[in-house]
Amino acid sequence: MNQSPIIHPVTRRTFLSTTSAAAVAALSTSRFAFAQGSDTLKIALIGCGGRGSGAANQALNVPGTKLVAVADAFKDRLEGALNSLKQAHPNSVDVPAERQFVGFDAYKNAISLADVVILATPPGFRPMQFEEAVKQGKHVFAEKPVATDAPGVRRFLAAAEEAKRKGLKVGVGLQRHHQPGYIETIQRLHDGAIGDIHTLRVYWNDGGVWVNPRKPSQSEMEFQMRNWYYFNWLCGDHICEQHIHNLDVANWVKNGYPVKARGMGGRQVRTAKEYGEIFDHHAVEFFYADGSTAFSQCRHIRGAWSSVSEHCVGTKGSADVGGHLIKATGADAWRFRGTKNVDPYQQEHDDLFAAIRGNKEYNEAFNGAKSTMTSILGRMATYSGAEITWDDAINSKVDLFPERLAWDALPKSLPDENGFYKIAVPGQTKTV
Ligand SMILES: NC(=O)c1ccc[n+]([C@@H]2O[C@H](COP(=O)([O-])OP(=O)(O)OC[C@H]3O[C@@H](n4cnc5c(N)ncnc54)[C@H](O)[C@@H]3O)[C@@H](O)[C@H]2O)c1
Repeated sequence: MNQSPIIHPVTRRTFLSTTSAAAVAALSTSRFAFAQGSDTLKIALIGCGGRGSGAANQALNVPGTKLVAVADAFKDRLEGALNSLKQAHPNSVDVPAERQFVGFDAYKNAISLADVVILATPPGFRPMQFEEAVKQGKHVFAEKPVATDAPGVRRFLAAAEEAKRKGLKVGVGLQRHHQPGYIETIQRLHDGAIGDIHTLRVYWNDGGVWVNPRKPSQSEMEFQMRNWYYFNWLCGDHICEQHIHNLDVANWVKNGYPVKARGMGGRQVRTAKEYGEIFDHHAVEFFYADGSTAFSQCRHIRGAWSSVSEHCVGTKGSADVGGHLIKATGADAWRFRGTKNVDPYQQEHDDLFAAIRGNKEYNEAFNGAKSTMTSILGRMATYSGAEITWDDAINSKVDLFPERLAWDALPKSLPDENGFYKIAVPGQTKTV
């Protein structure tokens, strides 16, 4: 039986839900001293959806920041975000009509007006927009994932090198890296609390996200853009868009990236045409160079077992990484009891802006790109059914991006006469 579509709520994750009062209150007055007068850092927001509004809100919570430009593919999304941000930050949103840009090229104008750029469009656009921001010499906060295919990852990595050469600061929205419980747990694992880690389990199993029903007036490009989650050139499938968080934790625990992967997946429940071309479940084994394995599951099926978590087993014990709990003997047994009220979404902005103010080296782009590549490797394995090596995956020439970006241009994946998209068939589909 098909799942009925979930109609798009206001946003999946509204900006207020990802901002705690504690995080705002925690900002110290001493840091405010850095941000007076001409020290104001000008921000541009590219992609004015749920997360973009949230990230802009968090950036504006940092003293001495001002939103000066916004860009979105759609005017209605831009206006919605701007209104919310003006209400939350009446004194630090200064975006008159001439600094509001709409369309596929809007990002270039907005970037040119800022010191710091927030990139929060669907991830398919991240490589070209990051490249432009770096070319223009701007600091960047880029949401995860940072690409949806291997050519995109390579383009992002090349721009990351350029950002490093220019001394630009780059944050990537893998906020667990700014969450004290994760930081301390993984530090203890690296210090040997459970010995050599040979097995990991990571999950993002839940019910899935929104659908925006097709309107007769929409071009195919607009339909896909309004429903970006279900198209790989924009989203990368949910293994890329959501499960990247858990795969990134596995990489962090292992201090490296997988050398190969094999897996299986498909569309069993969420099969209606409005769900585009993505799978509703993936199960992948990722192998690391030291012989350890991460078993990964991600699922978008309502009513089934849900979990968003990461676990690992070593020669001397085990850990619930997301639960910040280490099961081991003696002094190595440990549970995180530290600061509970650090909001990692706020902290990642506090850390980025502190690095900009202090001109400290700060570049999360490389890890962001390689954890993105890990999730793409997983999708390549489940779509093809083949065992795929990291080297083959990252060198893949399979380019999902359309030849041309315009409302009348055609994406590469198109519906048949009944409105259904071609779905990958393991054993037949080639992904590298
Ligand atoms: N770190 C996290 O926990 C977290 C949480 C949610 C979302 N995200 C990430 O944030 C990104 C955005 O997700 P969202 O939930 O906000 O989606 P969304 O659909 O709410 O917002 C995306 C916005 O980008 C706009 N857009 C699309 N193409 C554009 C283009 N070429 N130029 C300018 N604007 C464009 C859309 O119109 C929309 O307003 C995704 O990469 C997602 O994975 C991260």
